[in-house]
Amino acid sequence: MRAVVYRGTKKIAVEEVPDASIQEATDAVIRITTTNICGSDLHMYEGRAGVEEGKILGHENMGIVEEVGAGVTRVKKGDRVSVPFNIACGTCRSCNQGWTSFCERVNPVEGMQGSAYGYANMGPYDGGQAEYLRVPYADFNLLELPEGTEHENDFTMLSDIFPTGWHGVVLSGFQPGDRVAVFGAGPVGLMAAHSARIMGASDVFVVDQHSDRLDLVKQLDCMPIDFSAGDPVEQIMDATQGLGTDVGVEAVGWQAHDPSGDEHPEMVLDNLVQVVKVHGGIGVVGVYVPEDPGAGSDLAKEGRIAWRYGDFFTRGQRMGTGQAPVKRYNRQLRDLIIQGTAKPSFLVSHEIGLDEAPTGYKNFDERDNGWTKVLLKP
Ligand SMILES: NC(=O)c1ccc[n+]([C@@H]2O[C@H](COP(=O)([O-])OP(=O)(O)OC[C@H]3O[C@@H](n4cnc5c(N)ncnc54)[C@H](O)[C@@H]3O)[C@@H](O)[C@H]2O)c1
Ligand SMILES: [Zn+2]
Ligand SMILES: [Zn+2]
Repeated sequence: MRAVVYRGTKKIAVEEVPDASIQEATDAVIRITTTNICGSDLHMYEGRAGVEEGKILGHENMGIVEEVGAGVTRVKKGDRVSVPFNIACGTCRSCNQGWTSFCERVNPVEGMQGSAYGYANMGPYDGGQAEYLRVPYADFNLLELPEGTEHENDFTMLSDIFPTGWHGVVLSGFQPGDRVAVFGAGPVGLMAAHSARIMGASDVFVVDQHSDRLDLVKQLDCMPIDFSAGDPVEQIMDATQGLGTDVGVEAVGWQAHDPSGDEHPEMVLDNLVQVVKVHGGIGVVGVYVPEDPGAGSDLAKEGRIAWRYGDFFTRGQRMGTGQAPVKRYNRQLRDLIIQGTAKPSFLVSHEIGLDEAPTGYKNFDERDNGWTKVLLKP
């Protein structure tokens, strides 16, 4: 089969690899119909996540079940399914409590919880930017979708970014009527803003500097804040009579940067501590890493970030962090798509073939104007 393979910093290739196959009785093999490029893939693409050469990338997958193992009883050949990016066993302590993102069985590395397809440090699993994908514990992990092809570009957001954006808002402790500040208008930030609107936010501010992404913020009936035009905290304070917001969502990650592109891993955390009210909450779904050999400072190389923890404490704020447990939300979000309340496909900018993946990666990585979300159609 053909697959997108990591070949070194800013180098990916579409190569012929062995077909995905059933390895355990609880596996299924999926024929991929849509697989997306994610901002998380860019950390690897930029050589900042220690992924091994030869890894097949891709954790935002959906398709049709091609084959199931002898122990799979619920899912059947021909079913149309969404594949959560988390791989989870369904029976460990974390899975039992709904935290499939911290499954204690699937990652073979001692001390590491949670796994994903085609991702650095998230287990030995191949990604789905390919013609076929092996799915472990298929009965537990797969979400069934209505047959046919309707809503394909909406349902493809169920594997990661829609549940992740939703989770960011939930982690913040959001209540209906709250004012929200979302940092980052990439796919995850846009999904957080869409989620906050659906949940009944009053004002939603979304911070970024790319005009194409800020235009999408306006389409969501949210307020775009351009951080290249001035301090985003001041802009939001001015717009709220100095009150700030009730909650905030971090959808940028440790490669946060100033308008000129210089990285400051503490920058967005500091902005959130300042803009969220005292005793307000912050949901962090942008990724931060335990070590980053490519970072600019010695502290950041060890994953240590000098942020305003003292202000955070003094202001009595709360923070939730981590990978999103997709299964906690994807069934309900699927139904909101079917029923017409949610339309996450609004951010799709490009649909291209697998062979064009290198172009998709390059343009999305450069945040080229108009490249907001790239879908691959193997
Ligand atoms: N927790 C999870 O489960 C999960 C899942 C998917 C993605 N992620 C992470 O979420 C983050 C965002 O992903 P994405 O796909 O939207 O990626 P993206 O890189 O396309 O979006 C990030 C956006 O942040 C903006 N940005 C940079 N510095 C900023 C600053 N100082 N202030 C405001 N905005 C700033 C960039 O301009 C960009 O538009 C990444 O770190 C990704 O790895 C986490
Ligand atoms: Zn993703
Ligand atoms: Zn588990």
